[in-house]
Amino acid sequence: MKRLFIKTYGCQMNFYDSEQISNLLSSSGYSITEKSEDADLILLNTCHIRDKAVEKTFSDLGRIKKSIQLSDKKKLKPIVAVAGCVAQAQGEEIMKRSPWVDIVVGPQSYTDLPSLISKVNKVEKKKLINIDFPTIPKFDFLEHDVKEKKISSFLTIQEGCDKFCSFCVVPYTRGPEYSRSIESVMMEVKKLIKRGTREIILLGQNVNAWTSRDDRGSLITLGNLIDEISKYDEILSIRYTTSHPLDMDLKLIETHQNNKKLMPYLHLPIQSGSNNILAKMNRKHTVDDYLKIIDKVKKYKPDIAISSDFIVGFPGETDQDHSETLELIKKVKFESSYSFKYSVRPGTPSATYEKQVDEKIKNVRLQELQSELKKHQFVFNQKFLNSKMSILILHKNKKNQYVGKSPYNQTVIIDEKLESNQKYLNKCKNIIGQMIDVTIISSFQNSLEGKFSLESLG
Ligand code: 5AD
Ligand code: SF4
Repeated sequence: MKRLFIKTYGCQMNFYDSEQISNLLSSSGYSITEKSEDADLILLNTCHIRDKAVEKTFSDLGRIKKSIQLSDKKKLKPIVAVAGCVAQAQGEEIMKRSPWVDIVVGPQSYTDLPSLISKVNKVEKKKLINIDFPTIPKFDFLEHDVKEKKISSFLTIQEGCDKFCSFCVVPYTRGPEYSRSIESVMMEVKKLIKRGTREIILLGQNVNAWTSRDDRGSLITLGNLIDEISKYDEILSIRYTTSHPLDMDLKLIETHQNNKKLMPYLHLPIQSGSNNILAKMNRKHTVDDYLKIIDKVKKYKPDIAISSDFIVGFPGETDQDHSETLELIKKVKFESSYSFKYSVRPGTPSATYEKQVDEKIKNVRLQELQSELKKHQFVFNQKFLNSKMSILILHKNKKNQYVGKSPYNQTVIIDEKLESNQKYLNKCKNIIGQMIDVTIISSFQNSLEGKFSLESLG
């Protein structure tokens, strides 16, 4: 058996792709190793969204070169492959800067990996680049054979983006918007269920732009897909990410109200609280449009938790624009969020914009924004103290604590050592993969602590 080491950078879709790659390569005789020095094939599944992620790829490639030079001379040199969005955007450059790389493969063409691997040592290296956007989507070639039992599983249903925000590389690295057919998605759902999945997280760069056709040829959208998946008794929880404000259709909003398995959590990036900056970002919505969508979602699902992505220091962002973003955060009180310093991405429109913001100013603004976001997250978590929640138990950590997820996407720790938890566990043994009533006994910045509700045992 040959050994494969995969390192994954970036978003959840990359993690999904890495799983598919390891399934694909297991058919070619590769099994996973956690140690790169033992590997016959080292694969980096890369991210191009910000400059830092790209730098990481190149510094890891430098480290791989050194370890190859130092390794046992009798051992065959491992094959080195770079996959993902850096491969897509900078394939030729990778081969030039790091000639010890054997294969470069883009996110839409990794199904070609077995064939590329068989060619290493046989043909000229420069031919081992595949960064095509194939006409037949990769999903049609993947077996989606799930090897491991996984309580919570990602499932990519949509890829690519046609929105062209002026700062973003995704439309170039992942290509145009594409939705998988409902048949293909449901086949994968069934395979995941067989392997013990209880929660499905539907993924897409614009997941709520997903569409397909039903048996009668009528157009269906994400809400319909969620209803379909929820028909399986084994599935206890459904989530989706990432959504775009312009694609929040009424059916999806109604599904939040009507479908108990759809968790009350919505990741809906706005990026900035200034209309001036939103226009320069080519977001095609205003702050007011965004607030109206949130109001509407809350009308249907009052307890829904909202999270967002923010970029600080976009070219031309003034103190006034930044204050407007802080105001928006105070108004919406996001329950959790991701925030980033603007990173110039070569080839995107905003890379050439004037008035790039000084790095020091970006640092100050990021800190201000994150401390505002943190306050709201802390208050949100505190709200749950002494209340009961239904928690999906995911696994046990190294400290022998059970780790679960709340409906609002909070991590919940349940310590086995607590006496009342021991009593509960004496009666209920196999709790991993179950939704269990838990009382929250402590709340922190990023997590909650809970104890099992003995009353629920009856
Ligand atoms: N600079 C900083 N952040 C970016 N994002 C996307 N492109 C950039 C960039 N050039 C952020 C956005 C997006 C998230 C996935 O990454 O906030 O929602
Ligand atoms: Fe990038 Fe999202 Fe904008 Fe598409 S909608 S260009 S993925 S930030």
